[in-house]
Amino acid sequence: MIMCKTSKEIGGMGHSLKRKEDARFIRGLGKYTDDVQLPGMLYMDIARSPFAYAKIKSIDKSAAMEIPGVLAVITGEDLKQYNLHWMPTLMSDTQMVLPTDTVMYQAQEVAAVIATDRYIAADAVQALENSIEYEQMKPLIDPHKALDADAPLLRPDKEGRTDNHIWHWQTGDQEATEQAFDEADVVVKEQVYIPRIHVASIETCGCVASYEKAEGKLTVWMTTQAPHAIRTVIALVAGHVGLSEERIRVISPDIGGGFGGKVPVYPGYVIAIAASFLIGKPVKWIEDRSENLQADSFARDYHMTVELASTKEGKMTGLRIKTLADHGYTDAAANPSKFPSGLFSIVTSSYDIPTAFTEMDAVYTNKPPGGVAYRCSFRVTEAVHAIERITDVLAQKLGRDPADLRFQNFIQKDQFPYRSALGWEYDSGDYAPALRKAMDMVGYEELRKEQAEKRARGELMGIGISSFTEIVGAGPSKDFDILGIKMFDSAEVRIHPTGKAIARFGTKSQGQGHETTYAQILAEELGIPAMHIQIEEGDTDTAPYGLGTYASRSTPTAGAAAAKAAHKIRDKARKIAAYLLEVSEEDLEWEPGKFFVKGAPERSKTIQDIAFAAYTNHPQGMEAGLEATHYYDPPNLTFPFGSYICVMDIDPKTAEMKIRRFVAIDDCGNIINPMIVTGQIHGGLAMGIAPAMYEELIYDDDGNILNGTFMDYLLPTSVETPNWETGHTITPSPHHPLGAKGVAESPTVGAPPAVANAVVDALSHLGVTHVDIPVTPFKVWKILKEKGVIS
Ligand code: CDP
Repeated sequence: MIMCKTSKEIGGMGHSLKRKEDARFIRGLGKYTDDVQLPGMLYMDIARSPFAYAKIKSIDKSAAMEIPGVLAVITGEDLKQYNLHWMPTLMSDTQMVLPTDTVMYQAQEVAAVIATDRYIAADAVQALENSIEYEQMKPLIDPHKALDADAPLLRPDKEGRTDNHIWHWQTGDQEATEQAFDEADVVVKEQVYIPRIHVASIETCGCVASYEKAEGKLTVWMTTQAPHAIRTVIALVAGHVGLSEERIRVISPDIGGGFGGKVPVYPGYVIAIAASFLIGKPVKWIEDRSENLQADSFARDYHMTVELASTKEGKMTGLRIKTLADHGYTDAAANPSKFPSGLFSIVTSSYDIPTAFTEMDAVYTNKPPGGVAYRCSFRVTEAVHAIERITDVLAQKLGRDPADLRFQNFIQKDQFPYRSALGWEYDSGDYAPALRKAMDMVGYEELRKEQAEKRARGELMGIGISSFTEIVGAGPSKDFDILGIKMFDSAEVRIHPTGKAIARFGTKSQGQGHETTYAQILAEELGIPAMHIQIEEGDTDTAPYGLGTYASRSTPTAGAAAAKAAHKIRDKARKIAAYLLEVSEEDLEWEPGKFFVKGAPERSKTIQDIAFAAYTNHPQGMEAGLEATHYYDPPNLTFPFGSYICVMDIDPKTAEMKIRRFVAIDDCGNIINPMIVTGQIHGGLAMGIAPAMYEELIYDDDGNILNGTFMDYLLPTSVETPNWETGHTITPSPHHPLGAKGVAESPTVGAPPAVANAVVDALSHLGVTHVDIPVTPFKVWKILKEKGVIS
């Protein structure tokens, strides 16, 4: 039974604020969810495990319950009675909501406290944490040891499982690739690790769950990137206790940063919903900053062996990659169902490599779950890092300029649509002009001269190039689904009688300006001023069903749906205009904002005239109103690309690194709003240098997180962030109704290898071929010491 006091027992509610100054209260802002204030709202806080792997011997609730104002303590055993102690992950694995017997990583949720005040809840959590007895076990932290005979079997709950191997995944022609390597003049090989990092959005996760018993309706305010999918998941997981989808409303308010981290369902959401359902009062839960960093889903954590084969002239002939993926204790990666390693198979990227083979093995360890697509379209960051690093390694081996080698191997403009060795059909691309533009902007030739002169003087400077291809815009629905829900997206547009409009979408902006760009699209297609078009997203009771916003999918899907819905409206508007002007539809021509009679432009009807007529004077037999909904299922993904150049100065005495210049040329097809796109690129570049130079979650052998606060987990601030120099080329997508491609993820994908390549380039004359990201001053200092540069 959940221990729950009556309101009488709560008594005096002596608020204890003694822990107010405690680090626990250095909270994530919880800004937008915090705006939700409901009468009688209760607060939830969560007790967490100090150990990475331990049996729970006992949980004594009494000390927590004795604190005035505490209403309930919820454990895994309590949830088990409702079969809510486990939940499915997006990759159809299983994840604990609260454990019944074993904790699997440090900071895992162990029990929750519901109280009348957030500080009381926090005090009760402290009391509870002191009352939980554990039997500590030796955790499995190193993924390379996951398959050892003496490795603990981490998931005995999964029937038939005898080891910690989650899945094996391979793509490409293994035999042909082996042959290419056998016949190659030159083969280069490198071990490349992309460490575990965290989304670290300014706002942490949180929700307010409110179950109205009288109406039998659950409303959840949560800053999720995918409100409809969350609604369906709640209905699937909790349908058996009476939460039926038509009685669930998810409202995603303004979001203080999502970046992929607010796609998954975290235990806190489920416990808050369960608590509200059982207690019948609204329950608010906002994570602490440390909880967010230590326990929410991580990104990356790929250990890759990368090999590239080429002729002696530098023509790439084969690519082979073997990857070990550390998934923590459950595979909760945010990938489309059919792609356990995401879209990693874009790894041949911008190069015309005739044959390739990639294989991956995912394993369980005692770390938090995840594999979120942190501002990256499902593992493209890992793929681009692998190919861009190994391309530089090949250039170094051949004694070639890395830019030259790229020009030689680029897929040529006339090869599009291009089918890659790993099966993707690229829609359009023109890579050489983007690289050339970046080189011109940065003054590449002069920089190379400067580098040679500096080397002669013992100074260190590097120039790093990254010429990446992205893959964004999931669907098409034939290939892409999340938990069986097909990946498309939607727009619903209604024109009011006075010619103003409201449009709702299945996506959900997190600050990337959908309100502006969607209005622009509709204004362009319908001729209604953007200021008179209201855009709404994020309320499942009103918005059409959609899969949400992540992986730069909004413009390729919902942006296209907006254009398509506008075209449907125009089709009807044409009929009404023909009726009003007493001509046939074929006699009419459209220009943004009005239909006019061919050859007699003075005879016209504006969209406002037509909208009014749709409600006041429409042809008999025609449905009244002027509105349309479109669910857009893209025929293909879009393939934006870019070329980035980073110029890095390294102090040969201290190994201090400074990005002197960073030039980024992006191509996202037709641009809807140049200012928003530039903003997306600036933000994405900052999030690109972050893992390249600063970010990494580090665990000791016992699974303790060594940098679980922002004191140690480094993020670049405006001080570290260089002045970005941006530009673009435009290669429209042939299949997107507006010729647009997604853009938001491109800089996060393209920037890390540009930085890493710059650092290696600065050290290449010392025989250095690779440095793992983050390329910290300490790593570089050790290299300089080893090479005798620093005595
Ligand atoms: O899915 P998400 O909104 O994160 O990514 P996106 O589709 O790349 O769009 C990010 C922002 O840039 C949106 O406001 C887009 O409408 C805008 N954008 C644009 O103006 N032109 C493009 N070709 C691509 C995106």
